[in-house]
Amino acid sequence: MKIIEVDNYEQMSLEAAELIANRLNEHNEFVLGLATGGTPEGAYHLLIEWNKQRKLSFKHVTTFNLDEYIGLDREHESSYYYFMMNKLFNHIDINKDKIHIPNGLAMNLAEECARYEEAIASAGGIDLQVLGIGQNGHIAFNEPGTSFDSKTHVIELTPSTREVNARFFNDPKEVPTKAITMGIESIMSSGELLLLVSGKEKADAMKRLIDGNISEDFPASALKQHPSFTVIADREALSKVK
Ligand code: GLP
Repeated sequence: MKIIEVDNYEQMSLEAAELIANRLNEHNEFVLGLATGGTPEGAYHLLIEWNKQRKLSFKHVTTFNLDEYIGLDREHESSYYYFMMNKLFNHIDINKDKIHIPNGLAMNLAEECARYEEAIASAGGIDLQVLGIGQNGHIAFNEPGTSFDSKTHVIELTPSTREVNARFFNDPKEVPTKAITMGIESIMSSGELLLLVSGKEKADAMKRLIDGNISEDFPASALKQHPSFTVIADREALSKVK
């Protein structure tokens, strides 16, 4: 695990965007795993700017998103599909056929999970996976207790995750109770992992990630076993680490 400490959210976003841009510029074909949430927004904003300035292209990039709520229409403003289109994909030169986000409205969810895994495999696997962390240590929507052997699956969201994510909904009652998420093993199969963390709300999670044991009770701890795992975290997020 390599930890890059930065001063604040803006610096985290810049470091992250530079790392992503470097990887995209180094390769003729690239498979990029993406996350939603407040954390990566700043980095996506910079990637859009650099794409507009032609410093960076996404024409050769295939993307896979980590997760999606079950039961939300793509046009629902709180769906991860909507988030990704508005915060990134609508503003860059990516081929829209190369974007993959789990379909939370699939009739057969088990089939959708299997289809998603197959799509990742047939793209040749994910080269770089961008991640955020939940306050309870979840990655993607892998809640505490999820098996480290898990592939893409349906998960029941914990009350605490639904509460934290209510800020992205008009009414807290609208937060879905379930989601499709890439599993821990799906994430660990990526060539490189990049975890972005900002703010004091994440300080306890960072302490447990860095100082704690590897355990299924704390999903993010699995990442420490990955040979190419980088954390870019700001001072507030690292404030409780020894
Ligand atoms: C959400 C998402 C995760 C995200 C995490 C942190 O529930 N499913 O993929 O990384 O929680 O979100 P945020 O960046 O808004 O703190």
